[in-house]
Amino acid sequence: MTGSTPALPSADEFGGRVAVVTGGTAGLGRHLCATLVSLGAEVFFCGRDSGSGRECEEIWGARAHFIRCDLADADQTRAFVQTAGEHRGSIDYLVNNAAIDPPMPFDESDEELFDRVVSVNLRSFFVVARAAVDYLRRGTGKAVVNLGTTNYMLGLAEYTAYNSAKSGIVGFTRSLARDLGADGIRVNMVSPGWIMTERQLAEKVTDEDRRDLLRDQALKYLLDESHVTPVTLFLLSGAAAGIAGQNIVVDGGKVMQ
Ligand SMILES: NC(=O)c1ccc[n+]([C@@H]2O[C@H](COP(=O)([O-])OP(=O)(O)OC[C@H]3O[C@@H](n4cnc5c(N)ncnc54)[C@H](OP(=O)(O)O)[C@@H]3O)[C@@H](O)[C@H]2O)c1
Repeated sequence: MTGSTPALPSADEFGGRVAVVTGGTAGLGRHLCATLVSLGAEVFFCGRDSGSGRECEEIWGARAHFIRCDLADADQTRAFVQTAGEHRGSIDYLVNNAAIDPPMPFDESDEELFDRVVSVNLRSFFVVARAAVDYLRRGTGKAVVNLGTTNYMLGLAEYTAYNSAKSGIVGFTRSLARDLGADGIRVNMVSPGWIMTERQLAEKVTDEDRRDLLRDQALKYLLDESHVTPVTLFLLSGAAAGIAGQNIVVDGGKVMQ
């Protein structure tokens, strides 16, 4: 069966294949897309910010394809996946990456905000996968990676909606791995700890946070996008041919499952 043959890790296998990544205009998704393009993949990525999307296309070149899409809107989301799928008639890799994490003190929260967070952070993963599945069956990469977080494992305060959605991705990943396993499609999850992206550094991380992280992590250095991308690529690759329904934590050894 295609995709079932184990292979030693090789950057070459991404060349010429089609990858779909949600939210490639910033942060972890942007780093992943840039890396996939540099490895020769055709990358279809989305976001709401057309300026950033076009800027990425200019930097990465002709194999990068930005499609403006609000993942809270199922029609736009399906159109994004369909455009990617129709490029070659197949999709090799799907990475559900995009998410929002607005501050949500519980006493100030309401169902409107809860629904918005869940629609982007969980429902879109379903809509994208549902729209991509026939294209994935026709592809040769046959791998899906969903981005989670360690935040729900730690039960951090003020994240009820975010963590409801993110813990939901665990069940989604496991069931989808069973649904698609018979087609040789592997579905897995990567759960980052606190990653020092541009946005996190600009909006959230304080000096005290840095000290606490370094105290709590087994590894005494802070993580950035470059620590997450290789793990995602590993799960997409043939080196992970025996792995399905799993959740790999990339947090410097703070949470140990
Ligand atoms: N950074 C961390 O410390 C950390 C920790 C744990 C887990 N994670 C997870 O890792 C993933 C990436 O996080 P990140 O830190 O890279 O986030 P980020 O820097 O905020 O980037 C989020 C990306 O998602 C896109 N996006 C957000 N809402 C969207 C929507 N409604 N429709 C379309 N695109 C949308 C954004 O594009 P536009 O702005 O153009 O819409 C952007 O490209 C997320 O699943 C996050 O939960 C991150």
